Order: sequence, then C-alpha cells, then structure tokens
Amino acid sequence: MLVFAVETSCDETSVCIMDKDKNIYSHIIFSQEIHKRYGGVVPELASRAHLEILQKITKKVFEESGKKISDIDIFSATCGPGLIGPLLIGSTFTKSLAIGSNKPFVPINHIESHILSPTFNNEIRYPNICLLLTGGHTEIYLLESKKKITLLGETVDDALGETFDKVGKLLNLKYPGGPEIEKKAINGNEVAYDLPTPLLNENNLNFSFSGLKTAVSQIVKKNDLSNDFIANLSASFQFCVSKILLEKTKKAIKKFEDKSKKINSLSVVGGVSNNKYIAKKLIDFFKDKNIEILFPVKNMMSDNAAMIAWNCINKNLNHSKDIYFKVDPRLTIK
Ligand code: KG4
Ligand code: ZN
Repeated sequence: MLVFAVETSCDETSVCIMDKDKNIYSHIIFSQEIHKRYGGVVPELASRAHLEILQKITKKVFEESGKKISDIDIFSATCGPGLIGPLLIGSTFTKSLAIGSNKPFVPINHIESHILSPTFNNEIRYPNICLLLTGGHTEIYLLESKKKITLLGETVDDALGETFDKVGKLLNLKYPGGPEIEKKAINGNEVAYDLPTPLLNENNLNFSFSGLKTAVSQIVKKNDLSNDFIANLSASFQFCVSKILLEKTKKAIKKFEDKSKKINSLSVVGGVSNNKYIAKKLIDFFKDKNIEILFPVKNMMSDNAAMIAWNCINKNLNHSKDIYFKVDPRLTIK
C-alpha cells in the first residue's frame, strides 16, 4: 500500500510518499520564509505560498521516489486543525489527485498525527502520557493504545511554541523564536531571573503561559538587549518552562498511580520537542523511574507530511465518503 500525504496546516508545505512497511520513498518539507519579516505567520501569505510551492514539491517527490501517480493507493492530507486557507489548499489539491486517479482520499487530523509520530520509531509501552507542544497547541494526553487517546489538560491561553515565538520577538530574535532561544540560552544563567509558573500548584493538568510572556516583557522593558541579557533571560525562560512541563507531567503520572494505573512511557511531540534542553530535563528526571521517554525522529518533530502518511497507514480505512470531508480549523480527535 503506497500513500501520498500532504501537510499544509500552517507555514510548512510538505509532501511524502510512504508505504505501509514504513519505507519513505521521498519526503520534502518546505518552511515558508516569507513570515520571518513579520515575526509570525500571516495566514493569507501562508495560503499563497502553499499554492505556489505545493505543485512543485509534489512533482519533486514523484521524481525522487521513482513512483508514478498511478502507483499511489491512497491520497491523504491534513484537514485540521490549522489555518483555514492553508488547509483548503492542501486538501483540495490532494482530493483532486485522488479523484483524477480514482483512488480514495483520507482526511487526517494534524494533532493526532503529532501524537502518533513517536510510534513510527518506537514500540510504545502503554499507558503512555503524551506532551503535545506545538505553535498552536499545548496539551497533555493519555494514550492507552494508538486508537484510545484521551485529552487530560491543555493551555488556557497561549501555546508553548507561540510563547517561545513571542519571547523571541521581545528579545529581537529571528522567527521562529523557539530554536533561537534554545541557542542563546546555552551561554546564559538559568537562575538569573525568577519567572512566574502559573497554575503550577493547581490540582489540574492545564497550562498557562501568557503571564510568563508578560513577565518577560516587563523585564525586557527595564533592560538593554545586550548579548548577556538575552542569554540569561533565554536560559531563565527555558528553565521556567521545563519546570512547568516536568511538574505537570509528574502530576499526570501520579493521578493514574493513585488509581493503580502505572504509566510506562512519556512521549514528547510537536515543534517544541526539538528543544534539547527541555528533553534533557525530562530524560534526567525520569531515567531511574522506569518510565521510558520517547521522541519522534527529527524530521517528524516539526510540521511534516511523513507523520500524516504514517497516521493514514495506521487507520482502519473506510474511505467511501471521505472525499466530501470538510476541513475544520478546530478539528478535534474523536
Ligand atoms: O509542531 P510545529 O512545527 O507546528 C505547529 O503545529 O504549530 O511547532 C512549531 C513551534 C514554533 O512555535 C517553534 O518556535 C517551536 O515549535 N520550536 C521550538 C524549537 N523548534 C521549534 N521551540 C523550542 N525549542 C526549539 N528548538
Ligand atoms: Zn504541528
């Protein structure tokens, strides 16, 4: 079974051809540069850039893979959540290929694809707690199997990736701020600034990051953006974020332990899972607790079409009406 997959939910245009045995014949991720000058994603520009690039990279994946459109058994594309324009472009393009080839179209949930991404390269021991950390979502899930996914908590305001990007902007760093903050923090003092950790001690699994961003902005107003200042504030910010993630994860694990359910693994997914400092904090804490920490492979951490293809391959495929599936910017996991 050969799957063609398209991802266009935000500012990455990505196409992948994968078979059910996990062979990736070609996978291209194009990160749109146009948004850098605005310090954030401009939805209309994202739509236009997807339109411009999608056909070109589709041609390239077929060239690279040595496959023909007629070799494809299933066409799949992200249908939500995400930006409406970009979702419509990717899904309509892919539906057209499916109709033209007389093959099924399978709509795919972007968040579910991030959550399932570590199952590509790991045998997960369930139950598993999954930290989903992207630019638009920050959520904590319980996975009892690939199909039984329960939301336990989420951010009540900004997402973590978004907070990294906003803090990056305050520090005059390039967009996206996440990787830039990680680089600057290497030379910084993580206890230079004592930043707030909202909701940390509340008895729930929700997150809040807007107060943290405001605290950073107040410190920035009182200081010059020297290299030392940027490094120290970046390091303190990452320290604070990893403390919040660690505490909430411990709380989630304890919640199930109290009900005699031992959590066997923790997975960290989405763009922020690229962050090696956060990863190390989690790995160091859990290494002697008999909880395995799992990450996706590098090219499945940020937005990509391989995770869309992999999610499609894992579905019980019943595609009769899926060609009529409407994209949904707020699509949830059923
Ligand atoms: O999952 P993703 O590629 O797209 C969404 O679905 O939103 O996540 C993008 C987010 C951005 O906010 C970006 O700043 C963040 O992931 N990110 C990072 C790092 N690399 C990407 N955040 C922290 N540290 C990183 N190294
Ligand atoms: Zn994503």
